Amino acid sequence: MGKRLFVGNWKMHKTGAQTRAFFDAFIAKVPSLPGHVDVVIAPPFTALNVANDALFGSRRIALAAQNMHWEDDGAFTGEISPLMLVELGVRYVILGHSERRMYYNERDDTVNLKVKAALANGITPIIAVGETLEEHEAGRTNGRVIAQTRAALTGIDVADLAHVVLAYEPIWAIGTGKNCDAQEANRVMAAISECVFGIREVPILYGGSMKPENVAEYVGLPHIDGGLVGGASLDAEAFAALISNAGARISDDA
Ligand code: PGA
Repeated sequence: MGKRLFVGNWKMHKTGAQTRAFFDAFIAKVPSLPGHVDVVIAPPFTALNVANDALFGSRRIALAAQNMHWEDDGAFTGEISPLMLVELGVRYVILGHSERRMYYNERDDTVNLKVKAALANGITPIIAVGETLEEHEAGRTNGRVIAQTRAALTGIDVADLAHVVLAYEPIWAIGTGKNCDAQEANRVMAAISECVFGIREVPILYGGSMKPENVAEYVGLPHIDGGLVGGASLDAEAFAALISNAGARISDDA
C-alpha cells in the first residue's frame, strides 16, 4: 500500500481570519507529522486565497475545494470554475459529497461532468459515495455505492484513474459521532475497489466521525487508504493528532 491521505473538509466553517489562525497553528506542527502521510485541507471558497498564502512554500499540505462547476466560465451565477480554483493553488476537489447531493441537488450525472472537468484541468477529484441509514438497514449499501462510483467514473480513461481519489462516507456516520465499524467500512471499500475496470489502485478514504481516538482502527485495514475528516479537521491540534495517530499505526505495520 502507498502513502496514506488525510483530507480535512471544513464545510461552511471558518472566515479568512480564522483560516489564518488555523494555519499558523497547524504549520507549526508539520515537522512532527509522519512523512508517509499526505495532508489536504478543503476550506470554503472564500478562504482559499488566505490558505494559499499561508501555505506558500509548504510542500506537505495541499489545498482542495469542496465543489466546483464543470464549465470553465459562463452565465452560472454563484458558481466557481476549475480555472478559478487552479489560480488559487487548488490541487484537489471534493465532488459528490452527500451534503451536496442532499441539499443542493447534486446528481450522479453532474458529479460525472465535474470529475471530467477536474481531470481536464489537472485537479484531482475526491469523489464521495455513501448510503443513507435506510439503505444501510435494508442491506443495500454495496449496490448504492457501486452505482454511485460507476456513474461518477463513466467515460473516464483507465489511465486517468491514477489521478482519482474515492471516499466512502456512510451518510449516517457523518457528523453524528456514530462512526461506521472499521471492518464493515473495509468490506464496503473492498467492493468499491473492484467495481470498475482499473480501479484497484485508486486510493479510497473512509469518512464519517473519524477522530484521533478511532483513526488507528481504520488505517490498519487493507482497503482503507486514509480519511475524509469533517469536524476533527477544524482544530489544528485535533487534526495533527489524528494524522500522527494514523502515522504511528501505519509504521507499527511496516
Ligand atoms: P465528519 O464529516 O468527520 O464531521 O463526520 C466527514 C465529512 O462529511 O466529510
